[in-house]
Amino acid sequence: MRHLISAADLSKDDALLVLDTAEELARVADQSIKKLPTLRGRTVVNLFFEDSTRTRISFEAAAKRLSADVINFSAKGSSVSKGESLKDTALTLEAMGADCVVIRHSASGAPYRLANWVRGSVVNAGDGTHEHPTQALLDAFTMRRRLGSLEGRRVTIVGDVLHSRVARSNVLLLGTLGADVTLVAPPTLLPVAVDTWPCSVSYDLDAVLPKSDVVMMLRVQRERMNAAYFPSVREYSRRYGLDAERLARLSDDAIVMHPGPMNRGVEIAAEVADSPRSTVVEQVANGVSARMAVLYLLLGGSEPAIGKEVAAR
Ligand code: CP
Repeated sequence: MRHLISAADLSKDDALLVLDTAEELARVADQSIKKLPTLRGRTVVNLFFEDSTRTRISFEAAAKRLSADVINFSAKGSSVSKGESLKDTALTLEAMGADCVVIRHSASGAPYRLANWVRGSVVNAGDGTHEHPTQALLDAFTMRRRLGSLEGRRVTIVGDVLHSRVARSNVLLLGTLGADVTLVAPPTLLPVAVDTWPCSVSYDLDAVLPKSDVVMMLRVQRERMNAAYFPSVREYSRRYGLDAERLARLSDDAIVMHPGPMNRGVEIAAEVADSPRSTVVEQVANGVSARMAVLYLLLGGSEPAIGKEVAAR
């Protein structure tokens, strides 16, 4: 595989290879081996047209831990403000020797366009309301570390599905990995075509919670909506927010996830976000391992030789 643009690009074997590679890389990091030489001489460009904290920083950390050179590009302060197009921006970065471009863009489909213009690999770090496949990989990695195999696991994804690239990528990847996904949202925050997605839909959070192994809360993306979608924070929180009372209805081993950034007090109460069941901070740490695995497999070859490299040090 040359690019990672959609979670649908990954077969079950591909997805398991990424998760197993991430596990191996996390194990190596636990042995205080902070840097591997795998991508020495390769250049990774982080091309971010939208704001990011976790994704941008973890891709940078992942590339550096694999010894790649990293160029960080932010549209703010660049010639994009003078009207330079995505294509010309990408070709400029390629002329500087990019082997891999990690792109975040507000336009759904921008990574597909980019993949036609550059010779290197393209990784989608979030495109509009479309997909965020490495978020889904790090989420699956986190679930597997906490719960074991995802086969038959019941994952409930709650909230603003309509604007969530995380939800779409998770539905696709978790389906590939054999999990049963249920979306819970107000009807106004579900995509029109949700009945074509490989998952179930419910409007009743309280009915679904006790049957869930994983509850993934989504950020309410107020910046992408108007009042017709989202009449009031209080009403939303009452019907779809995860508070301490609802947390108590989960089974003993169930975990609570959130991709971040969180709206504390809207979709998730602060005491839930900070509870031992919450994997929010683990997800961030696991993001580095998952993104290392993606870069490693796209740029370093499909036969990971991590153990050999470590042994050779
Ligand atoms: N989860 C996520 O994509 O976070 P950032 O927007 O901070 O990268």
